[in-house]
Amino acid sequence: MNNFIYKDQELYADDVSIRELAEQYGTPLYVYSKNHLKTQFEELTNAMAEVDPLICYSVKANSNASVIKTFLELGSGLDIVSGGELFRALRAGADPQKIVYAGVGKTEEEIKYALKENILFFTVESEAEAKRISDCASELDLTGRIAFRINPDVDPKTHKYISTGKKENKFGLDIERTITAYETASSLPNIEIAGIHMHIGSQLLSAKPFEEALTKVKELCVELKDKYPTFKHIDIGGGIGIQYKPEQEALSPKVYAEHVIPILKTLDLKVVMEPGRNLAGNAGILVSTVQYVKDNPFKKFIVIDAAMNDLIRPALYQAHHEILPIAENSETVFGDLVGPICESGDFLAADRDLPAVKQGDLLAAMSAGAYGFTMSSNYNSRPRPAEVMVDNDKAFIICERETFEDIIRKETL
Ligand code: LLP
Repeated sequence: MNNFIYKDQELYADDVSIRELAEQYGTPLYVYSKNHLKTQFEELTNAMAEVDPLICYSVKANSNASVIKTFLELGSGLDIVSGGELFRALRAGADPQKIVYAGVGKTEEEIKYALKENILFFTVESEAEAKRISDCASELDLTGRIAFRINPDVDPKTHKYISTGKKENKFGLDIERTITAYETASSLPNIEIAGIHMHIGSQLLSAKPFEEALTKVKELCVELKDKYPTFKHIDIGGGIGIQYKPEQEALSPKVYAEHVIPILKTLDLKVVMEPGRNLAGNAGILVSTVQYVKDNPFKKFIVIDAAMNDLIRPALYQAHHEILPIAENSETVFGDLVGPICESGDFLAADRDLPAVKQGDLLAAMSAGAYGFTMSSNYNSRPRPAEVMVDNDKAFIICERETFEDIIRKETL
């Protein structure tokens, strides 16, 4: 179900006209549908109901305070990856006992911050990290709860930059080392073994690799549970893929659940999940205004006011985002949709049929709710876009457009 639909040949987010939002708030503009966020969360909750998981929304996908709060109101926990995300999570009102903290490079400062806030557990990527957590916890007279992130060496068949569970990736512990790593960690003075973690990659369109990974760790879980009475959680990460292209089939939570639940049920552990894209990806679009339509002898370029600094996925992963005109129009032209940045990699779509538009027309890059604004930058000294949340027939500005002053605020002459 998509909440961005045409009504009388104009694109709407729920009951709000995108054109009106663009007129009021300017472009480039991120627009999110609160209903979509909610429906996705409910769909996943229902699909996984048999194992009653703690769903920890992955803040990196979209860390706007209102987006986080929307999930918190639905009972979500949060998956964080930095001190900055912990700060955002707490500010949005998250219960620390529903926060899990991942990442290969946690600093002492970040670890102490999370220990003091008493988060549920750290997902730990090396024995050295477990040692550091123990040292920090000793200093504070606290206990660090940990779940080792195991790298099960399965191929998630996704883009190589977002594949994380193969042996050549930097993430997790290779599976052969699991038992000794737990032994080492359990001998540390201020560590409690809380469970096990896996996250094999992002944008998976098949449930098979998840099943394969779980099958690989199943026996280990039984052994670890026997050995450590506090071993109570299995965190199965995120990664559920969404539909970016009309001909693509998303991995539905139902199909995902059918593959993972039978294994999870045998384990009798508290299931934790870390979905990001599945919850937020299709809840957002990036709206832009056409500045120029330009021809050279080889092709046509539609130049818009959004760029790779606003949405980097096409430049970084050759990712596909559907491009829709705000005024419905079936006429197309072949070419590139580009931004004003001084790089040939600055495109939102390349060598494709694009809506036939003219200067001043509005366009939307679809499926931009996850890893859109969060990966934006100020490259070329471009202020980051505003963000708006639509709730049925109402729209709220949830992050103001940056100004030139904002960009240079921390600089000195
Ligand atoms: N848990 C961990 C430990 C992760 O590293 C990630 C994503 C997630 C959960 C959430 O994964 P999701 O459910 O969203 O697939 N920037 C890339 C995606 C990078 C994903 C990084 N880790 C993109 O735009 O495609």
